[in-house]
Amino acid sequence: MKIHTKDIPNDTTVWNYILKTSNTQEAWEDISQSYDMPDIFRMKHNWDCDELSKDIDEAKELYGDYSWSYIGETKRSPYTGFALTYNPSHIDNLSEHEGSLGRSPDLIPTEGRSKNSFFDSHGINKRTTASKYKSIGKLLDCSKRTLIRSRVATCHGNTDTMLENRKYHTDTYMHHAIRLNIPITTSNTYFFKMENRNEPIFLEKGWAYTLDNKIPHKVFTARLTSKTRTHLVLGYSPWWDYNVEEDTWSSNEFFGKKHPMQMVMDGNVLSGLSNLDVDI
Ligand SMILES: [Fe+2]
Repeated sequence: MKIHTKDIPNDTTVWNYILKTSNTQEAWEDISQSYDMPDIFRMKHNWDCDELSKDIDEAKELYGDYSWSYIGETKRSPYTGFALTYNPSHIDNLSEHEGSLGRSPDLIPTEGRSKNSFFDSHGINKRTTASKYKSIGKLLDCSKRTLIRSRVATCHGNTDTMLENRKYHTDTYMHHAIRLNIPITTSNTYFFKMENRNEPIFLEKGWAYTLDNKIPHKVFTARLTSKTRTHLVLGYSPWWDYNVEEDTWSSNEFFGKKHPMQMVMDGNVLSGLSNLDVDI
């Protein structure tokens, strides 16, 4: 099945149009019921985190390190970073490297969930300049699916809002975006907590993590620290691939056949991952 972006009405997102005009939702319900998947798993990689960390610092100098924005916020957010993908046709006046960072919907000028708006995750599919920088570019060139709304995310553990009592959140469904979370620099005060588990998890360098992000989760620091934590947060469209020359979205061979988590395990999302570990 193929969808031309030009045929998508302006008052809807690519994803909502896909849901409306295809059986993607039914396919997801079938697949999510027929697979028994872990809440979280990790896979080993061989990218050099020290090199990536240095290149991320350089990229921040060159292209910027942007804050998450919330209404009423007076101080710098404890969460900063830069976008790895953007939408050149976006209508919300966000610059290339801040375009896919989180922000309060109240701060978005466009009303509703329209095409090329902040909410149109599938529209945010063009690699930013920073995403091609040195080792960051080499890692992302291993992508096997369309990268959407992705970023470098740095937590600053020097503010109260990063402590353990911060709120849980959920993200989108896995048929919409399957995410890989890759620790680049971390420190032993930072933990990842999923609401279904009693114990927090320490996310280690050298591994790429994928979780069911419909389970409420959060990152926190056990105590205030001047050390920061930087991860790559990559989102991939598992079942629909974008073709830039045609400006079309097509369902791929995994559509309705393979669970997005299984696609990560099988190397269908990002190559260079091995040694599946579900015992975390
Ligand atoms: Fe999340």
